[in-house]
Amino acid sequence: MIDFHLNGRRQRCADVRADESVLELLRTTLGQTGTKEGCASGDCGACTVAIGEPDAAGELVYRSANACITPAHQLQGCHLVTVEGLAEGERLHPAQAAMVDCHASQCGFCTPGIVMSLFTLYEGQRRGGEVPPPPLTQERLEEALGGNLCRCTGYRPIRDAALTMGDYPPVDPAWLTDATLGHRADDQHADSQSAAEAGRYAAPRTLEALRRLRAERPQARLVAGATDLWLETTQRLEALDDLIDVRRVAELNAIEETTEGWWIGAAVPLARLMPLLAAPYPAFEHLLHRFASSQIRHRATLGGNIANASPIGDTPPVLLALDARLRLDGPRGSRELPLANFFLDYRQTALAEDELIAAIFLPRPADGQHLKVWKLSKRREDDISAVLGAFAWRLEEGRMRDVHLAFGGMAAIPRRAPAAEAALEGRVPDAAAFAAARQALADELTPMSDVRGSAEYRRLAAGNLLERLRLMIAADHATADDTPPATQVTLDAYAH
Ligand code: FES
Ligand code: FES
Repeated sequence: MIDFHLNGRRQRCADVRADESVLELLRTTLGQTGTKEGCASGDCGACTVAIGEPDAAGELVYRSANACITPAHQLQGCHLVTVEGLAEGERLHPAQAAMVDCHASQCGFCTPGIVMSLFTLYEGQRRGGEVPPPPLTQERLEEALGGNLCRCTGYRPIRDAALTMGDYPPVDPAWLTDATLGHRADDQHADSQSAAEAGRYAAPRTLEALRRLRAERPQARLVAGATDLWLETTQRLEALDDLIDVRRVAELNAIEETTEGWWIGAAVPLARLMPLLAAPYPAFEHLLHRFASSQIRHRATLGGNIANASPIGDTPPVLLALDARLRLDGPRGSRELPLANFFLDYRQTALAEDELIAAIFLPRPADGQHLKVWKLSKRREDDISAVLGAFAWRLEEGRMRDVHLAFGGMAAIPRRAPAAEAALEGRVPDAAAFAAARQALADELTPMSDVRGSAEYRRLAAGNLLERLRLMIAADHATADDTPPATQVTLDAYAH
């Protein structure tokens, strides 16, 4: 039984499959067909809904999500808002009215998803204290709509709608001002574990309960944000019939600050991580703006991005460059492991079958430490890396120290490049040192060819990222002697 609210009305849905999505529940069981299915893989945004979950104070916070890859069972105790619920009687929500007035819809397939993204943006700004909300910046607009594709209208009228919706007076459907909804939802959270379909989809709230469940059901798969796991059912049509949801385990949601750094619970969503990273590691925070769409970042977790062990995951190279550590938890207790020892081979990790990632330790920046991260992908927004380079170093009396060069997309696993690091360690960051590092890199990493780029492209691109790093350092620390001209890097230089 899933007990939640839909557009202000309580719903109790029984016999929901473990791998049923929010989209399927909406369209099939509840007959709410305003939410569309485009790609069923979290890419197009046609299925965007807003999910309200209580914050620490019990107030509902609405965040956009892709209904096609959100497990229906994760609605337990939440308030789901769909495009059917926005208007107040005959009065359209500003996001809807602006879309109409700007002629921003043609076939209309993408429109409900775009309206929902604009709705969460509008209400998010409004709850920020200003009514009507302040004018949007181009950056915020792109961020909000980065996960919504339109195949026919073109983005100018959609952008116009986003830019003008703040001029419309707010609309308050009854549910929006129902102050008790959050408390009711919060109460239901307490029932989450018993309400979940026992044996098929369990959602424990403590690490202890999670350990117990895993001992009872060793065959069950773990699910958190589901943004990758769910593709097994929507794309490969495989059944996920026994799941343990770690998303609400309190210990996995905690962020503990110490003098050395931060222990970040594995189930912390990336969107929650971004404000934490902004001061110590702006380059890391900046990268996360390009980590898929905001719909995905609201649900995808840091632990999931690591456990997934994809060679092109975005966060592992950065965490490798920063010497992150993992806390693994299992029936034999917990143990710590440097992230560098976690990835063994393609999609193979040091995690035992009965273990899970409980937390990730992110050290504070060392004095004078620099971090630079570059992601190369075919599309700027909402795309997967072809190559990602994360570089950390210090400059001590003009020489590079503690050089960490980590890459995604350059091997079967995310990994550091020790030979290239050694070529730079203790060296003045000049053209000769970087030429040696690029050669070492070409020798030690063996990328593969796939749809995102050929091996040759990847090798060249990774070398060029090092060259870019050299030029950046030269520009930042220019002296008369160490600013050699940019060198032309050719395919030949990196061909084996
Ligand atoms: Fe495309 Fe869900 S249907 S993101
Ligand atoms: Fe047709 Fe956007 S209006 S896909």
